[in-house]
Amino acid sequence: MACMVVVGTQWGDEGKGKVVDLLGERVDGIVRFQGGNNAGHTLVVGGEKFILHLIPSGVLHPGKTCFIGNGVVVDPAVLIAEMDRLAGRGVAVGPDRLRLSERAHLIMPWHQALDLAREKAKGGAAIGTTGRGIGPCYEDKAARVGIRAADLLEPELLRSKIAACLAEKNFWLTNYYQEPALDAEMIYELHLGFGRRLAAHIGDVAAELNRLLEAGGSLLFEGAQGTHLDIDHGTYPYVTSSNPLAGSACNGAGVGVTRLGKVLGLVKAYTTRVGGGPFVTELTDEAGRYLQERGAEFGSTTGRPRRCGWLDMVVVRQAVRLNGITGLCLTKLDVLTGLDTVRLCVGYRLPTGEELDAVPASLARLAQCQAVYQEMPGWSEDISGARTWEELPPACRAYLERLRALAGAPLALVSVGPDREQTILLDRSLAG
Ligand code: GDP
Ligand code: IMO
Ligand code: MG
Repeated sequence: MACMVVVGTQWGDEGKGKVVDLLGERVDGIVRFQGGNNAGHTLVVGGEKFILHLIPSGVLHPGKTCFIGNGVVVDPAVLIAEMDRLAGRGVAVGPDRLRLSERAHLIMPWHQALDLAREKAKGGAAIGTTGRGIGPCYEDKAARVGIRAADLLEPELLRSKIAACLAEKNFWLTNYYQEPALDAEMIYELHLGFGRRLAAHIGDVAAELNRLLEAGGSLLFEGAQGTHLDIDHGTYPYVTSSNPLAGSACNGAGVGVTRLGKVLGLVKAYTTRVGGGPFVTELTDEAGRYLQERGAEFGSTTGRPRRCGWLDMVVVRQAVRLNGITGLCLTKLDVLTGLDTVRLCVGYRLPTGEELDAVPASLARLAQCQAVYQEMPGWSEDISGARTWEELPPACRAYLERLRALAGAPLALVSVGPDREQTILLDRSLAG
């Protein structure tokens, strides 16, 4: 399979980093195609933990090339810090191993300042963004005033673009939000340095990816966030500002749609959400606290506690359709161990009795939705050492069978612990 895409089916944090790290060994290149450092992807290898925000999760495999596509918004300071952190832990990320699209838009200091100022101004109605400047950066891209990686290499152009942007942004920051103004010359000097540091990494990533494919190479596209955070298909406005759906791998990296083969959908065995927004299966009781504690559900990027709830198959089934998912990767199954019963949300019901099979666009309608649950027996056996289907307890297998039927897609792998090794591979074609 030349091109495989990994996406989240829920609201992010499904364990994409773990799966991309695992499958990264089988491909030549690993590609991020949307989002930015709002993502926090965790890899655990031999008990050692790495959290990546911008660099693709294949970076721990020597000899693989990591690509940051044009669809990603890149905070250059964060990227450089991440490269340095990895180097400090013995993972070399030279220009041959990490490529940055010249077309990728840069998150500039005013993007972060505006993100934070807006959230503050919204008060209780805040989206609960990661505060990394993601939304304002994508806004400027669409408004055609953005600064791209290529601009770092043209100092005079960079200086004039920064000055032009800041003239407007400082007006908003100071007059509308009562925040301090930013200094154009200081930002220019800082970015000149970033340009010098990143110059050898910056190139035509789309051309590089297509050359690699034409030479018979294979790619793994690493989605960030999740289907229901998609700006078009998610629970708008409680979404991110990009399209985490699998189809964006093409636009966000510059490969043709006919290149894509497998699409793997990551499903956490329960549901979590960080920040605001509707959440039909949310648990605010003891069961929710159990999932949060056992699953260590604290944001990898902001450290915020993640809201927890039962697995919502309305959400997952919709993600299967929207992404064209060919295989499911179920993660964190071990977290459910010890519960007397486990629940699956199989549909939504409105007060009128009407049943829904998809998340409605209207937040008012969504707020009225009650989850329709199927309850199943739990299991108490420790499954973190299981490596085959047969080693899972019968109640656990029954839960997975039901989940597969409700999702309408086959199970490709099951994850029973954070470590790369704690995995049951069911789709043998993924074995490389
Ligand atoms: P991502 O954003 O989708 O890459 O997910 P995160 O890294 O933000 O969050 C997933 C968390 O669950 C990380 O701390 C992972 O180490 C951890 N994790 C992944 N798979 C499993 C699993 O099967 N079991 C357990 N217990 N933890 C897992
Ligand atoms: P990974 O890739 C979970 C959420 C934020 C907020 C909303 C908008 O680790 O799964 P933004 O900063 O993007 O404008 O915030 O999206 N969010 C995520 N939640 N995992 C993520 O990434 C997320 N990236 C953004 O919490 O609700
Ligand atoms: Mg995450």
